[in-house]
Amino acid sequence: VRIDHVGIAVENLEEAIRMYEETAGLVVTHREEVATQKVRVAFLGHAGDPEGAAEIELLEPTGKEGAIASFLAKRGPGMHHIAFHADSVGTEMDRLKSSGRPPLDAAPRPGARGHHVCFLHPKHCGGVLLELVGAPK
Ligand code: CO
Repeated sequence: VRIDHVGIAVENLEEAIRMYEETAGLVVTHREEVATQKVRVAFLGHAGDPEGAAEIELLEPTGKEGAIASFLAKRGPGMHHIAFHADSVGTEMDRLKSSGRPPLDAAPRPGARGHHVCFLHPKHCGGVLLELVGAPK
């Protein structure tokens, strides 16, 4: 199994980046605003990580709306999701639909870093929000 990243909801992206730099020696590998999900994200890893190594995704809401804003309002900052790599998100989604664990989205949606992603509701996954991440387009 390959974990693509662990997603963490934060209230202040810059403060959170500094904390991971200072505690775990991570560096920012990518920054992006994902308008469709109303978040600003930063991916962090170690400078010498091989291609495809798991990263940390910090997610800061851009306003009061969206899944991350409501997560923070309800539960405060902390772990939000685990993302696994998938060769084809569309194929995995078809498989999941027929296995009784339908994804939250009807079709793969654009995620950060030009990837196709889909999310699985925690109610189908033992209380953990799962994300599947495909290869970049
Ligand atoms: Co993610």
